[in-house]
Amino acid sequence: MDVKHIQLQMHGDASGLLVALEENRNVPFDIKRVYYLLKTRSDAHRGLHAHRSLKQLAIAVRGSMKFHLDDGFEQKEVVLSDPAQGLLLDSLIWRKMYDFTEDCVLMVLADQLYDPADYIRDYAEFRRLAREGR
Ligand code: TYD
Repeated sequence: MDVKHIQLQMHGDASGLLVALEENRNVPFDIKRVYYLLKTRSDAHRGLHAHRSLKQLAIAVRGSMKFHLDDGFEQKEVVLSDPAQGLLLDSLIWRKMYDFTEDCVLMVLADQLYDPADYIRDYAEFRRLAREGR
């Protein structure tokens, strides 16, 4: 399974660090929405869905967490713990988010506004759609 990471440039100076995110530059899509998860319980399992067409970029801007990714064929674990590393989530990727540290802030950039109809919450339906696409 091809997991795409985007290395973000850290602009450092004597006062600290800065990371810039720009649509269709280091973020490979139009940025329509930004949201972030915080104060996630360490025993929580979030996600457990895929998206029909949404593309996202996830960055652990603070703390760490894990993604369990599934493209309908293969599965992979990804740890996010670096605010200079983005994880690109294409459409039709089933994801579970877990093992959040108490301080974790997971920021997500998305190429579409929030649309509940874009969610696939049934794993069997996801697997069928993912396998049809190949
Ligand atoms: P959900 O996508 O189910 O969270 P997760 O996949 O991380 O477990 O969203 C949780 C709640 O937040 C749900 O009530 C919908 C709402 N929500 C919005 O209103 N806008 C958004 O952009 C997102 C992602 C969620």
